[in-house]
Amino acid sequence: MLFKSFVALSALATTASAALTRRVTCPDGNIVSNQKCCFLFPILEDLQTNLFEGAVCGEDAHSALRIAFHDAIGFSLNKNVGGGADGSILVFSDTELAFHANGGIDDIVAAQTPFFQKHNLSAGDFIQFAAAVGVANCPGAPRLKFLLGRPPPKAAAADLTVPEPFDNVTSILARFKDAGFAPVEAVALLASHTIAAADEVDPTIPGTPFDSTPGIFDSQFFIETLLVGSQFPGTGPHQGEVASPILGEMRLQSDFLLARDSRTACFWQANVNSPTFMRDAFEVEMLKLSLLGQDISTLTDCSDVIPVPAPVQGTAHLPAGSSLNDVQASCSLLKFPTLTADPGAATSVAPVTS
Ligand code: HEM
Ligand SMILES: *[C@@H]1O[C@H](CO)[C@@H](O)[C@H](O)[C@H]1NC(C)=O
Ligand SMILES: *[C@@H]1O[C@H](CO)[C@@H](O)[C@H](O)[C@H]1NC(C)=O
Repeated sequence: MLFKSFVALSALATTASAALTRRVTCPDGNIVSNQKCCFLFPILEDLQTNLFEGAVCGEDAHSALRIAFHDAIGFSLNKNVGGGADGSILVFSDTELAFHANGGIDDIVAAQTPFFQKHNLSAGDFIQFAAAVGVANCPGAPRLKFLLGRPPPKAAAADLTVPEPFDNVTSILARFKDAGFAPVEAVALLASHTIAAADEVDPTIPGTPFDSTPGIFDSQFFIETLLVGSQFPGTGPHQGEVASPILGEMRLQSDFLLARDSRTACFWQANVNSPTFMRDAFEVEMLKLSLLGQDISTLTDCSDVIPVPAPVQGTAHLPAGSSLNDVQASCSLLKFPTLTADPGAATSVAPVTS
């Protein structure tokens, strides 16, 4: 029952790939299923070279994913708060960048705008395309689906559609439910925070990552959020910030609480030491996110333009100097997986600077 929508979306993902059986050779030699997708290859190359610094899983790739969420979640099944994945955050940035939850999004809007203006993509398509390409630069990430053909946005989204790190679990889950996501789906989307850092939560320590490996799409985020130490209410001086026992790392209060709440703890733990489950669930939910407010029957599947990510690096582990006793296992149904710690003394994590 809980996994019902996951299964439905998996079926959608499978149908989308089954359609990719035709083969067309583009003028530049690339092979795709639909000739309408050929024009994306030069855009892909431009983004990889000039936005993502040579296909790096760095700050711009991370921010391309974050803006894709902030744009798409401007959507509700129950009220008119925006057109979902329509690119309104780029076109109506004067309005949306003033929302508190969009703090720091101004950097990626500034970085993406010249590319958006130069290429013939709608704003909604541009944002979702850039996110799929940026994520593909992170080893271990899924090859996200990309569907082409979103119409231009009609208006800015309303304020208060994007969850904040100081929100409680009840209001976070309510916001996701209002946009069509069950708790298990919200947790799947939070795999994004494995390739993430904060500039604005605590402006005194910009680029502070949410796990020890912000350049790899691995499950360390789901492990390190569960470590004991620097407890809620946070030792961090800023709203929504909970310090980590790992030096140089930050935990969002929201992630800290979702990891431990009885409504989400088992879904959280399911991602620990299961990089394949984590990757596949994230792919399914990102497809759903990218289609919010959109009519799928009018879109063209151009997923085969997205690069295939490298395999995950490393295996799930505890940070050096810690043990299983430091894990605040919070799922009452399942035993926490047996993990071993990296050898040696505790190390610190470097900020994400580019
Ligand atoms: C409970 C829901 C969520 C909350 C409260 C939340 C909050 C935040 C906050 C406060 C930051 C740091 C911003 C800064 O200070 O610079 C952040 C970063 C980020 N978030 Fe989330 N987020 C949530 C869900 C998501 C989802 C669903 C996605 C994508 C699917 C996402 C993707 C990211 C990424 C990639 C970053 C890093 C951006 C960068 O390093 O430039 N987040 N998030
Ligand atoms: C831009 O895209 C639209 C629709 O996707 C297409 O009809 C139009 O011909 C394109 N324009 C250019 C200059 O490529
Ligand atoms: C959660 O936050 C909402 C909005 O701030 C508030 O109305 C509600 O009372 C809070 N719930 C709990 C359980 O703290």
